[in-house]
Amino acid sequence: MPECRPVLKTLLTERWGLRYPIVGAPMAGIAFGPLARAVTEAGGLGCIGIGAQDPVTRIADESQIASDGGKLRFGIGLMEWAVRLRPELFDATLEAKPFLIALSFGDVAPYVERVHAAGAILATQVQSRDAAIAAERAGADIIVAQGTEAGGHTGEVATLTLLQVVLEAVKLPVIAAGGIASGRGLAAALAAGACGAWIGTPLLASPEAHNSQAARDRVVAARENETVLTRLFDRVQNIPWPTQFPGRALQNDFTKKWHGHEDAAANDPEAMTTFRRAKDKGDYAVSFIYAGQGVGLVDRERAAGDVVRDIGDGAEALLRKRFRELFV
Ligand SMILES: Cc1cc2nc3c(=O)[nH]c(=O)nc-3n(C[C@H](O)[C@H](O)[C@H](O)COP(=O)(O)O)c2cc1C
Repeated sequence: MPECRPVLKTLLTERWGLRYPIVGAPMAGIAFGPLARAVTEAGGLGCIGIGAQDPVTRIADESQIASDGGKLRFGIGLMEWAVRLRPELFDATLEAKPFLIALSFGDVAPYVERVHAAGAILATQVQSRDAAIAAERAGADIIVAQGTEAGGHTGEVATLTLLQVVLEAVKLPVIAAGGIASGRGLAAALAAGACGAWIGTPLLASPEAHNSQAARDRVVAARENETVLTRLFDRVQNIPWPTQFPGRALQNDFTKKWHGHEDAAANDPEAMTTFRRAKDKGDYAVSFIYAGQGVGLVDRERAAGDVVRDIGDGAEALLRKRFRELFV
């Protein structure tokens, strides 16, 4: 069998032609061109994450790197509420000609026609049944069921529960996101009916990620019960995230003191100065590292390609073994 032939058969391997049914999540500030490219080269689909405050030129620049000068496929992820504030982010995304555009945390309806006219697939992350149904009605091509285990901004429902709810509610293909960090996690999502996994946290300790050694060290050291779902970091940075989407980050001294007292932190000059200084210095005892509960499975620094291959090959081996064991 040739090396590049997909073994797990899902929409992502059969129709998109990926080796593994794995999407590297768009992560603003972290998933730039090098990480996206590494995920794609390993047989997944790598995405670039664009944040609300990113320079618009980042989209073309990182797309060049992700696609290796136009040779490889890649995706770009945007926050819908950020696009409403800065439509130029969406225009530049269309111009970059990605294979997939992910518009999350808002209504995709106003964007469907332009994404399709650009020849891209429209994905959207949802955190509830109603949001999944609305996205299907609006014309999205694929739904990402994003559970609360996920790193970054997310909802309150666990991945497996949400996945079951969404699979029952829509006809569109569904990718699972949140806490999938090993072959076991991908196998579970596929067995439940997902067509793939959308992984962010497992890539946070990869040298291709746009973060520091100190951040990667903290990711490697953290356990699955050392994250917190909080609005604290949005509040102290004055980022207008819709309040229904808190962010999951590693717990640290700052969250231990101020989580649950976000307004008080934002109105405390000393807390604000401490935070700003820590952010500038990269001091993660106070500043933020967004990461999901799957951080408990990230136990060493590894190339992104190895992470993708391990999750994909692990799922394949486990599914074969489990089906032999479960069916007599
Ligand atoms: C550091 C970080 C930044 C993220 N930034 C974004 C983003 O800019 N846009 C987006 O749609 N999702 C973002 N996410 C969420 C991911 O798309 C995805 O849902 C999540 O990483 C999946 O769960 P996991 O972290 O458990 O793998 C981010 C996640 C992390 C960990």
